[in-house]
Amino acid sequence: MSAEATQDVEAYASRALAELEAVRDQKALEAWYRAHLSPSGTITTLRKRIGSLPPEERKPFGARVNTAANTLKDAFERQKQVVENLELERAIRREAVDVTLPSRPLPTGGLHPITAAIREIERVFNAMGFETFESPHAELDELNFELLNMPPAHPARDMQDTFYISECAVLRTHTSPGQIHAMRKYAPGPLRVILPGRCYRHEQVTPRSEMQFHQVEGLMVGPRVRLSDLKGVLLAFARQVFGKNQQIRLRGSYFPFTEPSVEADIRCTLCGGEGCRVCKHTGWLEIAGAGLVHPTVLRNGGYDPSVVRGIAFGMGVERAFMLLHGITDIRHFFQNDLRFLRQFR
Ligand code: DAH
Repeated sequence: MSAEATQDVEAYASRALAELEAVRDQKALEAWYRAHLSPSGTITTLRKRIGSLPPEERKPFGARVNTAANTLKDAFERQKQVVENLELERAIRREAVDVTLPSRPLPTGGLHPITAAIREIERVFNAMGFETFESPHAELDELNFELLNMPPAHPARDMQDTFYISECAVLRTHTSPGQIHAMRKYAPGPLRVILPGRCYRHEQVTPRSEMQFHQVEGLMVGPRVRLSDLKGVLLAFARQVFGKNQQIRLRGSYFPFTEPSVEADIRCTLCGGEGCRVCKHTGWLEIAGAGLVHPTVLRNGGYDPSVVRGIAFGMGVERAFMLLHGITDIRHFFQNDLRFLRQFR
């Protein structure tokens, strides 16, 4: 306790105020409080002095000390606010996020290559007036086989190993039963539909065969539909998807639901027709089974085969995709290993 403080309380107070104004952080603020306003601070010491003064000086001196104490207390409360704001600003600056920093890339999803391929095929056929038509994965045996001209004992049923769900219901072994659904919706009017979808066969899973795969079926029915329409449609498709100089070749074949039946080939996309391992040195790749819709099938769909004719085709999506990209194991499509899938994004 300096003698000076006792003599000039006001001078002391104004110096303490000046000191307080310079305080900028919590630690300095606490130190200031200890020095001036705490029980061990100057104000307390001044108060203790009052009793040792001559009685007539006690009251005026006490009043001066009280005034100084109140001034310092008020100033302290104000400075406390100032310091709190400063500390807050510092904290905000310290914890600030740099929004200009480039972020880590998030992994993005993409379409499965088969989905993308089907969409591409759909786009091309939609542009030619073929409407996308969905049909069920679970079918009656009747639609999957019988109405497509494959009666129970028909030998063509052996071509397709079937998952039976019940005595009379199967997982569709091909997209062709969708033809019946589409014809029953549109008959006797003309129709042009494309039927993409997943099919199922009770096959041993090997690099060459899966128990599930995708087909895209096409069907066009009308009074003037001819085999040359089939060739034209397939050629237009091949040129858009496989290259503008593509060619189409139709070879005679057999399917119970078409007559005549053909298999459609395109020029080998890898060797351009020169002959290579992929096309087994023929220069051609098979892309679809096709034909003129069998009169019995037209009738089953609700049409009069003496009035309209139809063309139909069906292609295996995985098979074609594998040929185009040199993939040797069909199982990759269903294992969802991202290292495989990412290559086609
Ligand atoms: N449904 C046949 C299959 O799965 C493919 C097929 C061949 C579909 C000829 C057709 C067609 O529409 O006309 O092997």
